[in-house]
Amino acid sequence: MEVVIVSDATEIGPLVADAVEALLAGNPCAVLGLATGSSPLPVYDELVRRCADGRVSFSRATAFLLDEYVGLPAGHPESYRSVIDRAFVGRVDFGAGAVHGPDGTAADVVAACRAYEDAIAAAGGVDLQLLGLGRDGHIAFNEPGSSLGSRTRLKTLTSQTVSDNRRFFDPGDDVPRHVLTQGVGTILDARHLVLVAAGAVKAEPLARVVEGPVTAMVPGSALQLHPHVTVVADAAAAAELTLADYYRAAWAGKPAWQGL
Ligand code: GLP
Repeated sequence: MEVVIVSDATEIGPLVADAVEALLAGNPCAVLGLATGSSPLPVYDELVRRCADGRVSFSRATAFLLDEYVGLPAGHPESYRSVIDRAFVGRVDFGAGAVHGPDGTAADVVAACRAYEDAIAAAGGVDLQLLGLGRDGHIAFNEPGSSLGSRTRLKTLTSQTVSDNRRFFDPGDDVPRHVLTQGVGTILDARHLVLVAAGAVKAEPLARVVEGPVTAMVPGSALQLHPHVTVVADAAAAAELTLADYYRAAWAGKPAWQGL
């Protein structure tokens, strides 16, 4: 696992966008894994700028979302599909039908989850998966206790996550308690995982993910099992990392040809 600690959060967007740009330069048909939440937003903003400048194009790329609420009507402004359209997809040049998400409106949830796994496999798997980190160490919506081999399925959110998500909904609105989410095993199948963490609220969960034991109680800790993981953290999120000095030295001395 490579841990990159940036001195200023504004470095996160360009750094991760470089990896996406390099991927698409080598393979314009690459498959991206997109995450919602606030953490990847600087990456999306940077990619939108680069797309407008003609540096990067998503016109032949495919993308898969990590997760989706269950119980929101299609087109609800807070469905993850709507959120990612506003934040990124609708601002760049993806082709029609190129971006997929789990169908949170499906009557047959089990079939919808299976179809989603099949669609990812049919696309050849995800080349680069963006990830954020929940306060309880969750990735996508894999709450503590999630099997480290789990696949896309229905999950119930913890009350902590429901309350974290409340800020996006109008006061008085019901915040969904159920979601469809790629499993930890699904996420680990992606070829490169890039986890973005910013702010002091992520310091404790990030330390557990990067340096704690691999355990279903911290689903993000499963990233330690993956051969190609990049964690990009600002100084506040990195504050509880025991080996922070080592990560900084390794990054400072990294040969330029290696990339992320
Ligand atoms: C939700 C999403 C996760 C995201 C997390 C953290 O739970 N399902 O994918 O990582 O929020 O969001 P943020 O980046 O806003 O802290």
